Amino acid sequence: EKGGYPSFMEKEINDQPDAVAQTLLGRSDAQGKLILDELRIDETILRSVDKIVVLACGTSAYAGQVAKYAIEHWCRIPTEVELSHEFRYRDPIVNEKTLVVAISQSGETMDTLMAVRYAREQGAKVVAICNTNGSTIPRESDAVLYTHAGPEIAVASTKAFLAQITAAYLLGLYLAQLRGNKFGDEIADVMADLADMPAKIQSILDNADKVKKLARDMSNAKSVLFLGRHVGFPVAMEGALKLKELAYIHAEGFAAGELKHGPIALIEDGQPVVVVVPSPNGRDSLHAKVVSNIQEIRARGAVTIVIAEEGDTSVEAYAEHVFYVPKTPTLLAPLLTTVPLQIFACELASAKGYDVDQPRNLAKSVTVE
Ligand code: F6R
Repeated sequence: EKGGYPSFMEKEINDQPDAVAQTLLGRSDAQGKLILDELRIDETILRSVDKIVVLACGTSAYAGQVAKYAIEHWCRIPTEVELSHEFRYRDPIVNEKTLVVAISQSGETMDTLMAVRYAREQGAKVVAICNTNGSTIPRESDAVLYTHAGPEIAVASTKAFLAQITAAYLLGLYLAQLRGNKFGDEIADVMADLADMPAKIQSILDNADKVKKLARDMSNAKSVLFLGRHVGFPVAMEGALKLKELAYIHAEGFAAGELKHGPIALIEDGQPVVVVVPSPNGRDSLHAKVVSNIQEIRARGAVTIVIAEEGDTSVEAYAEHVFYVPKTPTLLAPLLTTVPLQIFACELASAKGYDVDQPRNLAKSVTVE
């Protein structure tokens, strides 16, 4: 049932092209127009929401953070992302004009379920993004957008994460279409780019040897830092979480722009730092800023491990190791840049002899508060 792989986690990492393809399947027509029949919330309500609140925990919350960049850009609806357990125990502002998006692979996470109940009590509509048919969170929500990643067995989430991001893109594009924020052509272009993602993910999987070798060579690392910017920021945090939970190594993800506000003090000779570089074709000068971050930390002795877009040779002067991912529009890049980080954590933990499917102290679904 592991499909010939040594672990469920490796199988699930390799299932990702299919997880994304299945999540896209049947949700648009030939012209790229979104069809989300399952979103059974009155269209007038969806047109009038003035705020979106994404609620989730752990990896699912990082999917939510990626969703925020995309939804605000496409829909121009203010979007907040909050950890379910924090949301529930303050006095959050939610009402009939709020659309809550609850993201949960298992659909059984108690913290997220409690947050969903609370939001509905306040009059908010709740859409669940969930991977488990008939689980509790979708049952208690107003609508559900299932991720069709297939059952995820390994405790650490991989294919569900990419499927959650994909489903969140679909939701964002659907709302943009419904509310007339974006012209049909623009939505169809993003849908075409999304349709290319499974093959691009596959090409990363087909070229995983280099990242695996680096992971094995680094199995004695005591701490690894991850930097990213824009959508690369949640990717950096996800890369760090995978390494903590699987390899029991101290790891932390930072927004690259935050470096000079404190974290750069951590850089000393030999400190490994993974940097997720935005596309050079992206917006503003983000690419140049992140490249100069790489230069700064390298000058202070960091061992720089860079994830960059194919053809971006500008990173090579300052990178100890470079892993290229296929070219893709900036907002969709997390579907690619996450993959080498998953492989890195999985391979490093395996090299240390750990059980990557069942990391210590963790449970697949956290059904207690
Ligand atoms: C990390 C991981 C956890 C879950 C979190 C939420 O690899 O698996 O951080 O993402 O416990 O779980 P769900 O999505 O089931 O609500």
